[in-house]
Amino acid sequence: MTTITKRPPGPKGLPFLGSIRQMLQDRIGFLTANRDQFGDIVYFQLGSRHIYQLNNPEYVQYVLVKHPEQFQKTPALKRAAQDSIGQGLLTSDGELHKRQRRLVQPAFHHKRIAAYADTMVNYTDDMLHECRDSQQISLLNEMMHLTMRIVAKTLFDTDVTDKADSIGAAISIGIEATADRVSRPMQLMEKLPTATNRKRRNALKVIDETINHFIDERKASDEDKGDLLSMLLMAVDEQDGGQMTNKQVKDEAMTLFVAGHETTANALAWTFYLLGKHPEIERKLAEEITTTIQGRLPALADLPKLPYLEMVIKESMRMYPPAWTTSREAQEDIELGGYTIPKGSTLMMSMYVIHHDARYWEQPDEFHPERFAAANEEHIPKYAYFPFGGGPRVCVGNQFAMMEAQLILATILQRYQLSLVPGQDIKPNPLVTLRPQPDIQMSLTKRESLKQAETALTLSA
Ligand code: HEM
Repeated sequence: MTTITKRPPGPKGLPFLGSIRQMLQDRIGFLTANRDQFGDIVYFQLGSRHIYQLNNPEYVQYVLVKHPEQFQKTPALKRAAQDSIGQGLLTSDGELHKRQRRLVQPAFHHKRIAAYADTMVNYTDDMLHECRDSQQISLLNEMMHLTMRIVAKTLFDTDVTDKADSIGAAISIGIEATADRVSRPMQLMEKLPTATNRKRRNALKVIDETINHFIDERKASDEDKGDLLSMLLMAVDEQDGGQMTNKQVKDEAMTLFVAGHETTANALAWTFYLLGKHPEIERKLAEEITTTIQGRLPALADLPKLPYLEMVIKESMRMYPPAWTTSREAQEDIELGGYTIPKGSTLMMSMYVIHHDARYWEQPDEFHPERFAAANEEHIPKYAYFPFGGGPRVCVGNQFAMMEAQLILATILQRYQLSLVPGQDIKPNPLVTLRPQPDIQMSLTKRESLKQAETALTLSA
């Protein structure tokens, strides 16, 4: 006797292709409309893949936190990542993932990342020395360079300033190609010698050479610098006594280099954008920062005294979560929300969709940092907010990222006000990460207090 499994409701889609066209046309619009029309669990197909979109925070918690052993990362993601980040933390599963996480986690221990704070502030300060009053900047590009330099220095003790442009361009191409591969399950296309594939291969070569350079240099020096790269190269697994192969070190380094700067740069760009749109919130934040820091360079110890800063960043990541969606493949049949989800199905959970759900967020499209004031935050339902994921695969760099975003914002905002150049139409572009498109143009104005101090200095000289 065959059992007929009732499927959740969902959009119809075309034979063979399913909803690929709608998904590629407008990923966020498609997933949001699914939620509004069909509710907590939505079924659709992308080619031969069976997708179950989960729109209820309790289901997210089931998958990520309560029963992670029933799921793995999707083959589509692994395939897309094969020749870029390979089998690093982000894309490995099972025992390999557990082992790699054991080896990488200590580099993100809070004592250890505290030592990275000065680099974060000093590199931001360096960037500001290059800036002039009234200058116009391409914000995301600047933030990418800054966070890239910081991750290279803190985790690999290398300076990539002179290569930031070429690596940045290569990563953008790589990310576009990966997003395309994840949602377009046509493997044949990837092998063809098309211009896009060639561009992608060249981009990967640039990133590859950079990472190999980090590793070769370190191996040649045979020095334990106490940073992440030394830890990866020297780590011996306590359970099996083995060390990582060269390929594993490279995959891990590549994963951390890419995951460790792209997301934070997007979070920063969206935060400045939102502050530009809301001058009253910008003023309140700038006042908190200037009165607390008093013209010095910010330090880690200042962060607990800047609660509004943390609220602003959290709210910015609610509205524009840099990782806007995540997926898992069911390793067995799953009972969820009154349905049986068959083994092999993909469970898709979108931070963006859940972070904008009016059932959990009053006026979800409004920028309102007070939502994250301590007294309000405790009422947010679990996993209605999950910018860093959750459970055993929660972002390994979440504290690093929060600290970095806070220190960079405090350093910049103390000295400059950033205003949106008028006439821009910025939209979120949901690739692997949620990028602003086109890049945000902002003009810099030196804070009045600083201008006055400089004038006084000139006069007394
Ligand atoms: C605002 C910044 C960031 C955001 C929003 C973010 C978001 C996320 C999310 C949502 C996940 C979980 C993905 C999933 O479960 O499918 C994740 C995993 C991960 N993130 Fe982040 N991330 C950020 C910054 C960083 C930084 C700074 C690093 C490293 C320096 C990093 C490294 C990683 C790694 C290695 C994983 C995989 C962890 C595992 O599976 O064990 N991320 N991140």
